[in-house]
Amino acid sequence: MKRGRFITVEGIEGAGKSSIMAAIVESLEHRGLTVCATREPGGTALAERVRAIVLEPGAETISSTTETLLMFAGRGIHLDNRVRPALAAGSWIVCDRFTDATRAYQGAGRGVSSDFIESLARAVHGDLVPDVTLLVDVPVGLGLTRARSRGNAADRIEAETVAFFERVRAHYLSLAANEPRRFRVIDGMQPLEQVRLAACRAVLDYVDAQGNTAS
Ligand code: TMP
Repeated sequence: MKRGRFITVEGIEGAGKSSIMAAIVESLEHRGLTVCATREPGGTALAERVRAIVLEPGAETISSTTETLLMFAGRGIHLDNRVRPALAAGSWIVCDRFTDATRAYQGAGRGVSSDFIESLARAVHGDLVPDVTLLVDVPVGLGLTRARSRGNAADRIEAETVAFFERVRAHYLSLAANEPRRFRVIDGMQPLEQVRLAACRAVLDYVDAQGNTAS
């Protein structure tokens, strides 16, 4: 059985990631591929409980180091129980956020050292790097306006400052510049339908380059 592929989708809040996930899944399924859509933090019942711990605002403090450890704890559970088995069975994974989010949010946003993050990444998934990462890029002002207009109460990270999200966005763009073979940067300022089209085109170009038409 041919191993599936691991596609991740990244971007700051309000970039439009969630709305392109379904379109990507549909376009891969249309090619006859078996697809599993998932997210981090979360993606399994237990990892969703870790998500609640790390994102829910509450009275207790979570330090930047602890936040980083929780992200990787949830990731380990998600990888062991969902991602690795699905990849081994030949499914294509489309994952809303992965370790690049830790690099951008905990690393650049919170100032956690990249040595610490990379050592955890090696320990938890030294064997696994995304095959393709779509970065949906939007200016911070637009992203936060979109995210805050949804009317949900802000979680612990959404409640961060504009300066925090500027660091996150800049770091995502520098990760993309450093790994141009893995990253595809999508302009999230376009109308949503155009963003969806650009994301699907990027993924299908990858499928075509692989010569994959079925899992
Ligand atoms: P979401 O709103 O895209 O579902 O993401 C949840 C939040 O979690 C978002 O603010 C980004 C944050 N996050 C991190 O800070 N580090 C991580 O490693 C991941 C996966 C998400």
